[in-house]
Amino acid sequence: MNNITSYVSQNKERFLNELLELLKIPSISADSAYKGEMLNTAEFVSESLKKAGCDKVEICKTEGYPIVYGEKIIDKNLPTVLVYGHYDVQPPDPIELWDSPPFEPVIKKTELHPEGAIFARGSCDDKGQFYMHVKALEFMTETNQLPCNVKFMIEGEEEVGSINLSKFVKNNQKKLSNDVILISDTGMISKDTPSITTGLRGLSYVEVEVTGPNRDLHSGLYGGAVANPINVLTKMIASLHDDNNHITIPGFYDKVEELSSDERAEMAKAPFSLEKYKKALDIEAVYGETGYTTNERNSIRPTLDVNGIWGGYTGEGAKTVIASKAYAKISMRLVPHQDWEEITELFTQHFESIAPKGVTVKVIPHHGGQGYVTPIDNIGYQAASNAYQDSFGKTPIPQRSGGSIPIVALFEEELKSKTILMGFGLDSDAIHSPNEHFGLFNFYKGIETIPLFYKYFTELS
Ligand code: BES
Ligand code: MN
Ligand code: MN
Repeated sequence: MNNITSYVSQNKERFLNELLELLKIPSISADSAYKGEMLNTAEFVSESLKKAGCDKVEICKTEGYPIVYGEKIIDKNLPTVLVYGHYDVQPPDPIELWDSPPFEPVIKKTELHPEGAIFARGSCDDKGQFYMHVKALEFMTETNQLPCNVKFMIEGEEEVGSINLSKFVKNNQKKLSNDVILISDTGMISKDTPSITTGLRGLSYVEVEVTGPNRDLHSGLYGGAVANPINVLTKMIASLHDDNNHITIPGFYDKVEELSSDERAEMAKAPFSLEKYKKALDIEAVYGETGYTTNERNSIRPTLDVNGIWGGYTGEGAKTVIASKAYAKISMRLVPHQDWEEITELFTQHFESIAPKGVTVKVIPHHGGQGYVTPIDNIGYQAASNAYQDSFGKTPIPQRSGGSIPIVALFEEELKSKTILMGFGLDSDAIHSPNEHFGLFNFYKGIETIPLFYKYFTELS
C-alpha cells in the first residue's frame, strides 16, 4: 500500500473540502430544534458511503435519529471489519467563547498544529474522525486494494447516550456480524507519539433535585429559620468526597480493580509532562485522589463530578431570596467491573440518606454505560500496532482513556467481538469545548494509517 500517501496528497484538497461541508451541518442531537439538520447529516453520510464504494447503504430509522449503515462484502470467506462512528455533535454553547462560528469551519495554525487545524464543532468528535474511515475506504476501493469485507455503522445519538443504537445492535446481530470493530473516536498521546486506546471508562449520569419550602421566600424574613435548598445541596455534594478526595458513597469502590504495581509502572512509562499539562490549563496545581498520579486519576480511577448546578436568583444585580428548589447534574466515571446501574442505585440510596430534615431529595437517573478494557494480545491490536508502526515509524503505546463510549461494552456483549480504538485526536483539541479543532496532520495521517490496519488484520486472520 505504498501509494496511500500519494493518493492522500493528490486528493488532499477534496478530502478537506468534503469534510468542511459535513462540518457545516449543525447536527446537535441534544436539541430537538436541529431535527431537520440531523436528517440532512444522515443523508450526507449515506451519500459519502456510496461514493466511497459501499455496495449497500441504508438509512435505518429508529425511534430517535437514524443510523447510517453501509457495507461492501467482497468474499464471505474473508474477515469483516465493522467501523463505528457518530455524526451527532455536542451543543456549541457557550457560543460567545468561540473565536469563529462553530458551524462555519475555518483552518487556522496553532502551536501544536503548524500545518493548520480545522476549527468547528465536531471536527474531532467525531465527524473528522469517522470521515477518515470513509476516505480510507475510498482509497481501497478506487485502487482495488480492499483486502476484506467492511461494514459501516454511523449513528446520530452518541452524545445523548446511544439508547436507540443499543436496540438496533440487539435486533441486528446477524447484519452486524464482524471479526473486529474499528473506531476512531478517541485520542493519541501526541503527533509524534502514536498510541492505541485500550480502555474507556463507564458512566453513570444523574440529576438531583432538592426541595425545601413550597415557594421562594424572602431571605431576610425566613433566612436562618428554614432549610435553604441551595445551601443544603452544596453541603451534600461537598460530603461526597473526603479529605483525600476519595468518594464517600458506601460500596462505591467495592468492584474497582486495583492495578498491580507492575501495571502501574508500565503505565507511568508513557511520556507525560506535568508542567506542560498545568501550563496548558493555566492552573498552578493538579488536584485529585491521594495516592494516584494525574494519568491514573483520569483513567484507572473512578470519579464523581458536578457538571452543572443551579437554582435561586442568577440574573443581574441582587435579589434576596431563598429558592424553593436547587438542582445539580452529576456524572460518575467508572472503571471496568463497576456496574453503572448498581452505582446509580448506590448513589441514589446514599444521596437520599444524607438529606437533612426539612428538605426532600429526588434523584433522576439519566444515561450510563459500562467501561471497557481491551487486551493487547489479539490480532486486532497487533494489526493496529503494525499499521501505526508503518505510518508513524514508531510502535504505538497502549493507553487507557478517561472518556466513555458506552456502546463499546455492548458491542462486545451482543456481537462478541473486540473493539480497536484507533483515535487520532489530541487532548488539546478541545472536544465538547469552544474552539474544538482537529489537526490536518492528524486527519491525513489517520487516512493513511487505516488502510494498513485492514491489510494487517486480513493477513493475520
Ligand atoms: N468521543 C467521545 C469519548 C472520548 C473522547 C473517549 C476522547 C476517549 C477520548 C464521546 O463522543 C463522548 O463524548 N462520550 C461521552 C459519553 C456519552 C454517553 C455522552 C463522554 O465521555 O462524556
Ligand atoms: Mn465521540
Ligand atoms: Mn463526544
